[in-house]
Amino acid sequence: MKTVIANEKGGAGKSTMALNLIGHLSPSLIVDADIHMGISKLLQLSDTQIKIIRPASPLDLSILKTTECAVIDCGGFDSDITRRALELADVIITPSSDDPQDQFALVAFNEVLAFLSVKNKRRMVAHVVINRVHPSRQKFDVMKELVDGLSHMNLLPVVIPASAQIPKAAFLGRGVQSGSVAAKFSTLAKIINAL
Ligand SMILES: Nc1ncnc2c1ncn2[C@@H]1O[C@H](COP(=O)(O)OP(=O)(O)O)[C@@H](O)[C@H]1O
Ligand SMILES: [Mg+2]
Repeated sequence: MKTVIANEKGGAGKSTMALNLIGHLSPSLIVDADIHMGISKLLQLSDTQIKIIRPASPLDLSILKTTECAVIDCGGFDSDITRRALELADVIITPSSDDPQDQFALVAFNEVLAFLSVKNKRRMVAHVVINRVHPSRQKFDVMKELVDGLSHMNLLPVVIPASAQIPKAAFLGRGVQSGSVAAKFSTLAKIINAL
């Protein structure tokens, strides 16, 4: 399974989601497709043995064609490398809060997916995961309505709350190891593997 984590807005939680999914998806390759080095900087804090590459051009992503399981962390902007990663993805995961600015970003990203779908003659869909919302929140009607109206997006039934556990674990270069937040990422990984 090649899981591409993308959202063309910075700070949406892509690198965090990559870091927290790695332990559950067990990829043999991690691709840091962000020039600002999101996931690779975080992993430098750990002693991970997983191979990490930083593609200099879309051509470098050809390695994905012969890789069974990879996690790809994209940058928070549109780029040729991100677009190529999206084309090579088995699953596209898009973390997003339901703030207005995050919702605008989803609309823009939907347009990119619409363009790539025409180019590749297949419908490409990003699976949206609500991230970094207040832990007590349960209703996300506005987000649901927005995503329902975007033809290249699907809302997954997993909500990752804002949690101090997430940066705490990130300082050790790893995802949250136990408790409810880890359980959410475990559920998300199972959903990804079933997609
Ligand atoms: N669910 C969350 N709870 C708490 N902090 C989070 C959560 N998701 C992301 N963050 C924090 O938000 C910031 C931006 O996240 P990051 O994963 O770097 O975004 P991106 O890779 O999309 O730019 C980081 O400081 C990260 O620790
Ligand atoms: Mg990042």
